[in-house]
Amino acid sequence: MEKLAMTDADFANLARILRKVDFFAPMTIGQLESVLPYIMLCRYSKGEAVFKQGDAGDAFYIIYEGKVSVSVKKGFFSFAKQVAYLSPGDFFGEMALLSKDARSASVTCEEDSRLFVLLSTDFQSVVLQNPSFAAEVGKIAERRKFMSSHND
Ligand code: CMP
Repeated sequence: MEKLAMTDADFANLARILRKVDFFAPMTIGQLESVLPYIMLCRYSKGEAVFKQGDAGDAFYIIYEGKVSVSVKKGFFSFAKQVAYLSPGDFFGEMALLSKDARSASVTCEEDSRLFVLLSTDFQSVVLQNPSFAAEVGKIAERRKFMSSHND
């Protein structure tokens, strides 16, 4: 993983992506602008793990470019099973931040990827300031939890 400097074009693209993500949309332009400075841009290589199932949750991710797979390992002796592929505009890493549990799945880059990263403390302050954001992210996290637990 390599942290990149963000250009004006990246900031403009980030603002555009955030407005298209359902739960960022209800935020006012002012609220959105207050979040932008906290978002980092990081580059990952194909095959690189963003994090592993069981890790502590330290950040929230939005895909800018590339593709990641989400895989879950049910028991110590079982193989990891892919439950989803996520692409630009999709986000991940919200579950551990909302529940304070460990990461529920491993996320691996299937292609060279650039990800927007919001550290946990900054994610928590967005959640506190935006109840509609918190509610939307919570709904999606519940749906994913359900799908992962029924993926046998
Ligand atoms: P978290 O538990 O923090 O870390 C693993 C992430 O994978 C999880 O948050 C979700 O963002 C994502 N995830 C887990 N299950 C699914 C699923 N079934 N579909 C899409 N994404 C998922």
